[in-house]
Amino acid sequence: MYKRILAANWKMNLGINDSLVLAKKIAKDIKVSKDKQYILCPSFHSIYSIKNKISKIKLYLGAQDCSQFSNGAYTGDISATMLTKLGCKYVILGHSERRIYLNENNEILKKKLYLAHKASLKVIFCVGEKIEDYKINKSKEKIEKQLSDVFSKNISKENLIIAYEPVWAIGTNKTPNLDEINGMHKFIKELIKKRYRINNIRVLYGGSVNSSNSRKIFSLSNVDGGLIGGASLNASEFIKIYDSLN
Ligand code: PGA
Repeated sequence: MYKRILAANWKMNLGINDSLVLAKKIAKDIKVSKDKQYILCPSFHSIYSIKNKISKIKLYLGAQDCSQFSNGAYTGDISATMLTKLGCKYVILGHSERRIYLNENNEILKKKLYLAHKASLKVIFCVGEKIEDYKINKSKEKIEKQLSDVFSKNISKENLIIAYEPVWAIGTNKTPNLDEINGMHKFIKELIKKRYRINNIRVLYGGSVNSSNSRKIFSLSNVDGGLIGGASLNASEFIKIYDSLN
């Protein structure tokens, strides 16, 4: 049985000290249990100090992106191998903010996924429809394309986690209803099973999760955890969300 997962996406927030303070608070107060784990994804500049200063506690770190190139003259990029060496075990790929503001397309994501796996990083791969697709009932079609354009036949269940994050639910305090969330997660799992012969891939829900709605979302049969943005910037709120993951 795989562990359920709660991942914190701190996005481009917090300096090194504030990141360290937040990570320490979470690591100190969270009740780690054997059937669930949490992953912190700070911005690049804070990963090193968190890794070094909180090394005694079992803390999983992830990055929010990696380069589509393995190394060389790519100013500003950070490679998957560099992240592994920094102490990351995970990387978030395909977040809608990168798709929208940084023009990441499926072709680029395919290269990133390949390099991340080659560097032994586990990937939290984000998919999600925009509001205009949701309104005309095209969510499943969009998500199917986001998955099938990027995954190859030899993807492995161990290294891959999917996060369903409707674009219109991110940072908006809006979420799909519970049936819609469960239905989409079921759809993703069935698609992955049919196409790649992988049973029970973990699918996290992300988009306006907080301590008031998390328990209901996490109780859905096809939801294996969450990817938390805004609410993960507050230690006690993040811990409450973690506690609601059963
Ligand atoms: P949110 O962001 O929790 O602030 O809606 C989630 C995400 O972007 O991963």
